[in-house]
Amino acid sequence: MGRSPNGNGTWLRTRNNAGSTPARPTEREGEMRLEDIGFYTLSDSRARNASAFSPLWRCELLLTDRCNFKCPYCRGSSFNELTYDQARHTLNLWMEQGLQNVRFSGGEPTMWMRLADLIRTAKDGGVKRIAVSTNGSIRWEVYAGLLEAGMNDVSISFDACCAADAKKMAGGMDKFNTVTQNIVKLAQRTYVTVGVVVTDENVGQLVETIKLAHSFGVADIRVISAAQHNKILEALGNVPESILDAHPILKYRVNNAVKGRNVRGMNNTDSKRCWLAIDDMAIADDNHYPCIIYMREKGKPIGKVGPDMRKQREGWVLSHNCYEDPICRQNCLDVCVDYNNVAEKARCVEA
Ligand SMILES: C[S@@+](CC[C@H](N)C(=O)[O-])C[C@H]1O[C@@H](n2cnc3c(N)ncnc32)[C@H](O)[C@@H]1O
Ligand code: SF4
Ligand code: SF4
Repeated sequence: MGRSPNGNGTWLRTRNNAGSTPARPTEREGEMRLEDIGFYTLSDSRARNASAFSPLWRCELLLTDRCNFKCPYCRGSSFNELTYDQARHTLNLWMEQGLQNVRFSGGEPTMWMRLADLIRTAKDGGVKRIAVSTNGSIRWEVYAGLLEAGMNDVSISFDACCAADAKKMAGGMDKFNTVTQNIVKLAQRTYVTVGVVVTDENVGQLVETIKLAHSFGVADIRVISAAQHNKILEALGNVPESILDAHPILKYRVNNAVKGRNVRGMNNTDSKRCWLAIDDMAIADDNHYPCIIYMREKGKPIGKVGPDMRKQREGWVLSHNCYEDPICRQNCLDVCVDYNNVAEKARCVEA
């Protein structure tokens, strides 16, 4: 049994051995394993075993708040752009703690001049998955350079299935052809997912947008209701089975929609602790936040970037009631809620 102290004099206990550990919830008949959902960085084993001393698993660094698009729904937030030295310092702090998966985001991170250097640093430091979130509109040579540096995961915003609507969703930027060409080329070379943020404006073409993204050969399609438009995505019921079978994240969301579950939000019966924050992290400026949603919804940071971040995060996890926090209660993603439920059932906290 792993034990680790936290700042409040209580103990976090992880149940990762046999003996008194109750049957894993995921072993119960009919219950899905987190890894089957297709969110590659979430697994039952991680949920059971993560601690303040386990490798950092999934960290996101916001490099700049600048962007060439003006998506009307955007929850990009404004924050100070990082210098290269600041970004490398944070990356090094993470890598000293065994960072496994990193995501660079923004704003539009491809507009941050030294992204390729940062990616190379992550690769040289042994980070396995190096992800970039982008709107896909930048010239191909930039993406080719990032691939060459070691980027092996690309998330691309893709909110419409025709140029005119894509232009509206991008706040007037006419880049549909560039974006689609880049998606096709990137999907031939690495793991690519597209993200469709669903609003009242584009929900009518959701199924067509999914079909088009599928035709580009992407690995998965992440359909997310915009934070300000949370509702069950009924249109998802019309996505053909053959497309669902090709994309596990999409299939998970569609299954949830069919069961009447929203993409966002917690219930009173869900874990009130956010175990994800133990080995996940999002950083903007010199602040570390519980998660990227929390940061974008303007929640308070847990603390400042520095060597004590893990300890601070463990204290936050053990003391923060997420159900009483409107940001978490209304915005937490289905997959994070499921992860925390698995983790909560596998652990206990003693005073
Ligand atoms: C803020 S963007 C930054 C990266 C890049 N510029 C892009 O668009 O992919 C990161 C992600 O947040 C998503 N996003 C922005 N505003 C959102 C909102 N209101 N609700 C849900 N997701 C949102 C974007 O679609 C994108 O997948
Ligand atoms: S491209 Fe990304 S950061 Fe830029 S406005 Fe759109 S969602 Fe926001
Ligand atoms: S929104 Fe979800 S993942 Fe983020 S801090 Fe709250 S409970 Fe954790």
